[in-house]
Amino acid sequence: MIRGILSGKGGVGKTTITTNLGLAMHKLGEDVVVLDGDIKNPNLGLQLGLFNYNKTLQEVIERQISLLEALYIHETGLRFIPAHISLKFLETDSSRLKGFLKDIPYNLLIDSPPGLNKESLSILESCDEVLVVSEPFLPDVTDCIKTIEMAREFGVKVGGIILNKIRNKDYELGKEEIEGTTNTKVISTIPFDENVLRSLSLKNPVVNYKTLSESTVSIFQLASLLSGKEYKVPRFLEFRRLFQIQDFQNKFLRLFYPI
Ligand SMILES: Nc1ncnc2c1ncn2[C@@H]1O[C@H](COP(=O)(O)OP(=O)(O)O)[C@@H](O)[C@H]1O
Ligand SMILES: [Mg+2]
Repeated sequence: MIRGILSGKGGVGKTTITTNLGLAMHKLGEDVVVLDGDIKNPNLGLQLGLFNYNKTLQEVIERQISLLEALYIHETGLRFIPAHISLKFLETDSSRLKGFLKDIPYNLLIDSPPGLNKESLSILESCDEVLVVSEPFLPDVTDCIKTIEMAREFGVKVGGIILNKIRNKDYELGKEEIEGTTNTKVISTIPFDENVLRSLSLKNPVVNYKTLSESTVSIFQLASLLSGKEYKVPRFLEFRRLFQIQDFQNKFLRLFYPI
C-alpha cells in the first residue's frame, strides 16, 4: 500500500507525521518505509538527525541507482529513503516517481511538498491512498478541499483528514464542522504538543522520545487504525485525559496565586 501524506498548506506537520507515523507503525510490527518526496525542500532526514547520504531519491529518479540502494535504516529500526538537500538536484524531474514505487515490497508513506505543485501531483498519482493533514482553521481546511478534490479526480482513495496541532480553543474549527465542509472523515486528531518541538531540536521523533505524550498516543492510535495492529492506550493516560489534570492544576493554583 502506497500512502501519500499531503496538505494544502506548508508547516501543518506533514513531515513530522510521516516520520512519527512510520516509526509508530514499525513499532507495532508493520513493514513500512518512509520516503522523502519533498525533493525541493527535503527535511525528513533532518528530523531523524541524518544529513549526509551517499545515495538518495534523486539518484533513483535519475536512474543512476536502484531504489534499494537509497534505503537506509535509522537507529530506531525505521526504514527510510531520504532526498538530497543539495542544490545540484533542483532540476530532478519527480514525474518519474510513479514508475518505480510499485516495486517496493513494503508499505510506503510518502512525505510531500505542500499544495498542488508538480511534485505533489506526481506523488498524488503514485499513491493508492492519500491522507490530508490540516490545522483546525478555515484557510487550511479550504486548501485541503482542493487536495481532496484533486485526489478524487485522479481516482485516488482519500483515506481521511489528520487534524494536527489542536489546542482545543473556541476559535478552532471542530471535527464535525470540518467533516461537513470537506465531506471527508477526520481519522485522527493530534494535539499541539511542545514535546514535538523538543523532539525536533533533539532530532529524535516524538514517538521515540516521549512515549507517553499526548501526541505520541494519538499517532500510535492512527498507526493502529491504518495497520490493523493492536495498540492499547496506557491506563493512566485515559485517566489523565478524563480529568484533564493539567488544566485542573492550573485552575487550582490560580485560586491562590491570581494573575
Ligand atoms: N502536534 C504538534 N505539536 C507541536 N508542534 C508541531 C506538531 N506537529 C508539527 N509541529 C511543528 O510544526 C512545524 C512544522 O512541521 P512540519 O512537519 O515540518 O510541517 P510540514 O512538513 O507540513 O511543512 C515543526 O516545527 C514541527 O515541529
Ligand atoms: Mg515538510
